[in-house]
Amino acid sequence: MIPHNAIIAAHDYLLPSLRQAECVVDATAGNGHDTLFLCRNTPPECRIWAFDIQAEALRSAKERVCQHGFTDRVQWIQADHAQLGDHVDIPVDAAVFNLGFLPGHDHVLTTKPDSLGQALNSLLKLLKPQGRISIVAYPGHGPGQEEVVFIENFLADCAQRIYVATRLEFINQRNYPAILYTIGNTGRNLHEDTSPDYSQRTR
Ligand SMILES: C[S@@+](CC[C@H](N)C(=O)[O-])C[C@H]1O[C@@H](n2cnc3c(N)ncnc32)[C@H](O)[C@@H]1O
Repeated sequence: MIPHNAIIAAHDYLLPSLRQAECVVDATAGNGHDTLFLCRNTPPECRIWAFDIQAEALRSAKERVCQHGFTDRVQWIQADHAQLGDHVDIPVDAAVFNLGFLPGHDHVLTTKPDSLGQALNSLLKLLKPQGRISIVAYPGHGPGQEEVVFIENFLADCAQRIYVATRLEFINQRNYPAILYTIGNTGRNLHEDTSPDYSQRTR
């Protein structure tokens, strides 16, 4: 299937890092669609953390996940994802952010650049080589636009030798479609020499 929106494209991007994952994070549990995706696509022993600031969101997410038989798979944390580093203490294979507010609820309780930055900084320290982070952002509302500016600056500053940071936009869709940002850890370290060695080559 051609990924026709940012959420589907995010899932496609994350999939290779989930199959043998030991630890994954849903930083914005909301109604639990992404948490369920993580449950379905990780091994049974994989630890799954799901964060949300709203009790209502966690209730809804838990219900969805339980309905699909994954009752005991998730550690639910009602907290700002800025505090992610206080909870997640092992290397992370993948993390998913779906920004904005809980659909049908108070728009004031939306994600914010400060918290996002703190969460990303914690995750980059924990992200395994070949680990992946997806961020779906919504430029169609005021706070969403601020987040887009923040994310673009944050990703542009990620060390090129270690991380691959990308943006995927659906440029023929109307009404400010969601944008997918990704960060992948190449597994290279900052000082590793990756230039090809042609010294043994014969003409
Ligand atoms: C668009 S919804 C997420 C959708 C969800 N991933 C799903 O699959 O249904 C965004 C969620 O982020 C939550 N949120 C907002 N600020 C947050 C923060 N600082 N830390 C954690 N969650 C936050 C909101 O409460 C809301 O439930």
